[in-house]
Amino acid sequence: MTETIDPTEETQVSEDPTESSAVRTTVPGRTVLRLVDVAASVLDGRTCRSILHGIDLEVHEGELVVLMGPSGSGKTTLLRIAAGLDRPERGMPVIDGEHLWLLSPVELADLRRGSVGYVEQRWNLLDSLTVVENVSLPLELDGVARRDSMRQAMAALEDVGIAELARQFPSELSGGEQQRAAIARSLVGSRHLLVADEPTGALDALTAESVMRLIRRRCDERGIAALLATHDPAVAGWADRVVYLRDGILADRSAQVAP
Ligand SMILES: Nc1ncnc2c1ncn2[C@@H]1O[C@H](COP(=O)(O)OP(=O)(O)O)[C@@H](O)[C@H]1O
Ligand SMILES: [Mg+2]
Repeated sequence: MTETIDPTEETQVSEDPTESSAVRTTVPGRTVLRLVDVAASVLDGRTCRSILHGIDLEVHEGELVVLMGPSGSGKTTLLRIAAGLDRPERGMPVIDGEHLWLLSPVELADLRRGSVGYVEQRWNLLDSLTVVENVSLPLELDGVARRDSMRQAMAALEDVGIAELARQFPSELSGGEQQRAAIARSLVGSRHLLVADEPTGALDALTAESVMRLIRRRCDERGIAALLATHDPAVAGWADRVVYLRDGILADRSAQVAP
């Protein structure tokens, strides 16, 4: 049953994101993600073009860091490196103290599956599986027994407020509901690092706000560390910290505007 979920709650609460970020003065928890001197380049025709020039970044437990920057500035490249999906040319992503590219391929896959949720811009739910099967998939791939994985998947869906849609197929859901399902899948089990590429990019303003409220709540209540790329200034209002990527370098915008 979903007695803990009030389906009207998301729309009733009128929260000013700038106000809520202003009162968020908690001391950062342990470091979940650390990027050390990360550099990357892409092949542009026959020349190699550098797009990340030595990025240093930390995301702590309970912290929501928003990455902004013009289109083509390298946000997706950076997120994929942070999540251990792509290897940087130089430097090292470190998750939970583990230097990702010093791990064996099996250890890296285990760490990614166990600790890291990655939400792509196109959220890539599998259409042939129901919503709850989509969400339980990472656990099943991890060898969790089906009954247990389904139970955890239902809990994740309750968390994101769409438990009643568990038996539907993704194509029967709205964009916002699919995005919630993708976030449930990215956080199912004990994953505690969320890396999301423009998670509200395809959503209307109201739905985007409820997705952001959900991610914010996961950070505040569960200590999830989150790194989100976005173009949307409204998303930045939910962040503890906004970093800006331009010309391959990160600038901490909150530090720049500080008195
Ligand atoms: N696989 C690739 N091959 C060649 N160029 C790429 C590849 N992936 C990204 N790029 C280029 O690298 C730059 C950064 O891309 P991306 O990280 O997707 O930026 P953003 O997410 O900020 O829009 C862009 O100029 C893009 O065209
Ligand atoms: Mg991108």
